[in-house]
Amino acid sequence: MSNIDKIFASVRNEFPALTQKVHGKKLAYLDSAATTLKPQSVIDRITQFYSFETSNVHRGAHYLGDVATQAFESARHKVAEFLGARQTEEIIFVRGTTEGVNLVANSWGGTHLKEGDEILITEMEHHGNIVPWQMVAERIGAKVLAAKILDNGELDLEDFKAKLSKKTKMVAFTACSNVLGTNTDMTLLTKLAHEVGAKVLIDGAQIVSQTKVDVKAIDCDFFVFSAHKLFGPFGQGVVYGKREILDGMSPYQGGGSMIAKVTVEKTTYNDVPFRFEAGTPHVEGAVGLHAAIDFVERIGFENIHSYEMELLKEATAKLQAIPDLRIFGTAPNKGPIISFNLKGAHHSDVGQILDQEGVAVRAGHHCTQPLMARFGIPGTVRASFSVYNNHEDIDALVKAVVKAREMLL
Ligand code: ALA
Repeated sequence: MSNIDKIFASVRNEFPALTQKVHGKKLAYLDSAATTLKPQSVIDRITQFYSFETSNVHRGAHYLGDVATQAFESARHKVAEFLGARQTEEIIFVRGTTEGVNLVANSWGGTHLKEGDEILITEMEHHGNIVPWQMVAERIGAKVLAAKILDNGELDLEDFKAKLSKKTKMVAFTACSNVLGTNTDMTLLTKLAHEVGAKVLIDGAQIVSQTKVDVKAIDCDFFVFSAHKLFGPFGQGVVYGKREILDGMSPYQGGGSMIAKVTVEKTTYNDVPFRFEAGTPHVEGAVGLHAAIDFVERIGFENIHSYEMELLKEATAKLQAIPDLRIFGTAPNKGPIISFNLKGAHHSDVGQILDQEGVAVRAGHHCTQPLMARFGIPGTVRASFSVYNNHEDIDALVKAVVKAREMLL
């Protein structure tokens, strides 16, 4: 066993979900792009919080209220460090990536977009980074354009540049396609967008578990991600926004905590970030996210990247050797995600056979219908890899796909 395999064999042991069998078979969990499994340290931290620290935050005039507030705000500080933000106040807690995009589309877009303005996205965006922009554009009379994707799954940079103009006010793109695995050049795209005066939002849902992100170096204006794709809890997400931009944005949800003063006639708002966090927040979500970041930092992104690239390379080669199998997304720079179809077989049927073999994948359009239309297909089978996967999982996948081929073709 190589050194890196040894490190990750031990990481694997931290995931209780992997000790179980499904349909009488050893579980090969290859659906981390949908959600990652949770390590024991995250589960324990949330249990500890619920058992001994439960209290509302920013409100209680008592000891536990202070403990919970401290845990919550310390999570915010951790996230700020994790992303390389300049200030802790640049971190807003939301429910997930989708709510994060909705917040920016409504709060920033609602104030700054005007009739005739353009929002540039890409053809490989998740619906969560398409629909919120369409909704605000429709309300305001703005327009959503999408930069094209090349046959190998890379962004068509020439088309991206051609679609940027003085009319472009927002460029919203994914750092890593949840279907093709393609990684975009976040720094370059941000620079190009800034050259025409547009703001930039990056959908970081897939990238945060793969590589170190530094929002200062990238210089993006907004960066959003979900804790549940980073070994953390569901229902917890993050919006990073540059302080000077957040300061100029109005909230789009009203309620407790986000106010400075309320009279029946009028309300003035709290400072950033609280202005954007109406109501009781998902406190244990933030606390669990803190533990999840501790977990990835303990392993180290260099190790994570090397290991995941090793798995990706091996799985790609082994799948490519199966006759009638087509992989969608072969960009040279991609994350550990492989989408494929067996020619003549429906993706759902393949997914079902894989499930019976204990291999968990996602089959469908992956919330990316424009991308499916681009490739002229209704869906794909998607295998995605993470820190707890190993070479046996790849073999289980390949064996199950060979079986599916025998059964379906
Ligand atoms: N966005 C998640 C996925 O790609 C749910 O599966």
